[in-house]
Amino acid sequence: MPFEDLKPEVSKILVNKNNTVTERLQLVCQLLKDTINYYDWVGFYFRNGSKEELKLRTYVGEKTDHEIIPFGKGICGQVAVSNKNFVVPDVQAQDNYIACSITVKSEIVIPLFKDGENIGQIDIDSNTPDPFTEQDERFLEFVNQEVAKIL
Ligand code: SME
Repeated sequence: MPFEDLKPEVSKILVNKNNTVTERLQLVCQLLKDTINYYDWVGFYFRNGSKEELKLRTYVGEKTDHEIIPFGKGICGQVAVSNKNFVVPDVQAQDNYIACSITVKSEIVIPLFKDGENIGQIDIDSNTPDPFTEQDERFLEFVNQEVAKIL
């Protein structure tokens, strides 16, 4: 399904107040993983209170040990401080990287802003090398903007 067709599906899930916010985030993770064949792990991390660390809120894909990630550590921790998208075509080429699974080849992390503040991120791992384009970035920015509206 092209990204333009996915956008209304994402919005529909997020505005459905019959589910809790965490349930809605989980459904978005599931939709993205099920629909985009190179999205193998999809999760949302958020800042853990006022601590300088990220906490995993919800995800789909292989179980991970990395529920807490300190700011600055790994791709996710770097995005928490840079406030910038981070596209990694080849995770093995990264020094500051936290491996979740040996099958992962690439990763994309997009910060999530609420009222201009970087409060979390969507993180996607792929078992395909170098699959992400600017279209992924624009789509995931849209997803995060929609999420910010319900937080
Ligand atoms: N690879 C990430 C850690 C999170 S897992 O991908 C779920 C990183 O380097 O920050």
